[in-house]
Amino acid sequence: MNSISYLARALDAEGSEPFDEATHQDMRTLVCVQCHAEYYFKKTEWEDPDGKKHTAGVVTFPWENGLSVENIEEYYDERKFTDWTHKLSKAPMLKAQHPGYETFKTGIHGQNNLACADCHMPYVREGAVKYSNHKIGSPLDDISNTCLNCHGESEEQFKQIVERKLERKEELAAAATDVLSKAHFEAAKAWELGATEEEMTPALMDIRHGQWRWDFGVAAHGGFFHAPEETLRILATAIDKGHAARLKLRVILAKYGEPGYEGPDYSTKEKAQELIGLQMDKLVDEKITFLNTLREEWIQKASHSGKEIYDPKTEVKEFKTSYADEK
Ligand code: HEC
Ligand code: HEC
Ligand code: HEC
Repeated sequence: MNSISYLARALDAEGSEPFDEATHQDMRTLVCVQCHAEYYFKKTEWEDPDGKKHTAGVVTFPWENGLSVENIEEYYDERKFTDWTHKLSKAPMLKAQHPGYETFKTGIHGQNNLACADCHMPYVREGAVKYSNHKIGSPLDDISNTCLNCHGESEEQFKQIVERKLERKEELAAAATDVLSKAHFEAAKAWELGATEEEMTPALMDIRHGQWRWDFGVAAHGGFFHAPEETLRILATAIDKGHAARLKLRVILAKYGEPGYEGPDYSTKEKAQELIGLQMDKLVDEKITFLNTLREEWIQKASHSGKEIYDPKTEVKEFKTSYADEK
């Protein structure tokens, strides 16, 4: 078996940046890319020493056609790969993991060959010692040691610039979520009315592609900042696919006598939870029981273990969730 890693294999297959040619600066990105990228488990046959055949799910980056959302979509389509079938629409869905690297590469900092570590692992000095900070978090918590190494703006200006980028992404992400949700409900109605697979397939492919693009745009953590243009472009194509699906479904719904069909109301969190059959009361009860019993036991055990495995400083004081008020 070839010992070359899954990352090297994928970079070589994609071709624009072979692993052997990676510089030290590239490595300060590639170390993160081992995890912060899109991947799937490719079904792969192998033979053990006794000649017995097995199938393994091998971690694979789907980059053979390139790194863009369309390239990867095409890769999965060619292999008829599907993560799950949607319960309502029966569309063959794809789940994006976290294509952080793929989007980062298209942005201004990626294009200027900055590395992830340049912003997320800033150099800090303690006395005579200079080292890179390994508490990887938001660069905005330490703007003077990250952004301001290269830029002249003030911390406040930069916070505002980044915030506005996030708002723009959220606006398009919400629009994409809405149109795709409606498409799922309308597809479900079309099935219910007796639409055939042949009639439905083109609309379901639009839903598959639209939701894949939405997911790619929102799951690429930090994409709104790393690559704002690409993120907004991806979300715009998600909206476009969603509308394409809805147009096709409208024709089918009309054919089966429901031209004016409107899906159910999911305009609030509570309505959406009810719609998908989430038993919130039960879940909140379970969580509160966990917090008051098992979690307390774990903390007790850890703090009396004599080993430094419990740090009271890391204790969560406030829970920002729907069960917080009821604890
Ligand atoms: C072995 C896999 C792995 C590697 C390598 C890795 N990460 Fe992560 N990273 C994760 C996972 C998983 C999370 C989510 C952790 C969570 O939410 O609990 C995460 C979270 C983060 C976050 C969010 C942290 C926060 O405050 O919530 C940042 C930023 C980040 N990683 C950047 C990087 C950078 C930069 C590198 C390279 C220097 C890197 N990661 C390398 C797996 C990895
Ligand atoms: C030019 C600076 C810069 C570079 C280079 C950079 N990032 Fe970021 N990253 C940011 C900023 C700014 C944010 C947004 C932080 C926030 O919202 O608090 C961010 C957000 C993130 C997040 C989401 C954190 C969260 O809490 O949601 C992850 C994960 C992440 N980056 C990983 C990476 C990886 C992996 C790379 C390299 C492929 C990289 N970043 C390169 C500046 C950078
Ligand atoms: C290692 C140097 C370096 C660091 C660190 C860095 N940048 Fe940049 N930044 C650049 C370069 C180079 C450009 C491109 C400038 C150009 O082409 O005019 C750029 C461009 C930008 C732009 C304008 C381009 C656009 O598309 O919006 C913004 C905004 C920006 N950076 C914000 C940040 C923020 C916020 C941070 C910290 C999280 C940061 N930068 C960290 C080097 C850096």
